[in-house]
Amino acid sequence: MFSPPWLPLPPVLVIRMRRCLIVGNWKLNGDFALCEQFANIVYPINPSLDIVICPPAVLLQSLKEMIKHNSACLHIGAQEVSIETQGAFTGEISAKMLYEAGAQYGIIGHSERRQHFAETDQGVAKKMFNLLSAHISPIVCVGESKIERDNQETLSVIAAQLSPIKRMLQQHRVSCAKIVIGYEPLWAIGSDQPATPDLAQQIHRYIREYMVDLPDSEALRVIYGGSVTTDNSGLLLAMPDIDGALVGGASLNTDSFLGLLPSAL
Ligand code: PGA
Repeated sequence: MFSPPWLPLPPVLVIRMRRCLIVGNWKLNGDFALCEQFANIVYPINPSLDIVICPPAVLLQSLKEMIKHNSACLHIGAQEVSIETQGAFTGEISAKMLYEAGAQYGIIGHSERRQHFAETDQGVAKKMFNLLSAHISPIVCVGESKIERDNQETLSVIAAQLSPIKRMLQQHRVSCAKIVIGYEPLWAIGSDQPATPDLAQQIHRYIREYMVDLPDSEALRVIYGGSVTTDNSGLLLAMPDIDGALVGGASLNTDSFLGLLPSAL
């Protein structure tokens, strides 16, 4: 529509087509008492928001029970899943077991698992398949180290991590609405030095473009993780391709976690 040059342009309305997703990853922290504290929060009721708390696996079922009358926005998630589905694998927990314990989301490929537990890109893809088969939405983490970033390898590292994921999604014709990608640069995790909103936005856009030929790619949620706090979450979440946050340290305290939740979407 033509606007005469002397009239101000109408404000551009930014409509979020993907629900915002805030995930708290407790890692090797938390106990029954922390579950009770989080279960007693009054969470917003907002159809554009999903909140996921990922406690250690042994607390999943208790937390699920405690939150059952809380907001419909609130879900629980697992921090890891076995690459195996059943059998003689002492200590492992399968996707089906996590589902029965109440998990609706499952983090896989976290850099701490890749670094300390020799997780491979192919293994992450297999775990994604296991989670999807058990009706759990995978949150697949990708991200580059400081050295890789300094060597300008960020995009190639992320492409290599996403490649087997993309192949598996293509092969099984999985809708992107069922998965989440978490961009977590290693240098930003637990460092108090988050990526700037502009940098994170660039990488999120790249991830979205990389996945663009998959079914329902416009529904793919790409969330950012790495030193997200109450102070920086607003600017990060305002970026058009940042659909939420994956939060470690700030998810261990009810006040700091509540402060991350966007007040208006
Ligand atoms: P952080 O951890 O928020 O403490 O940096 C994020 C993560 O590892 O998922």
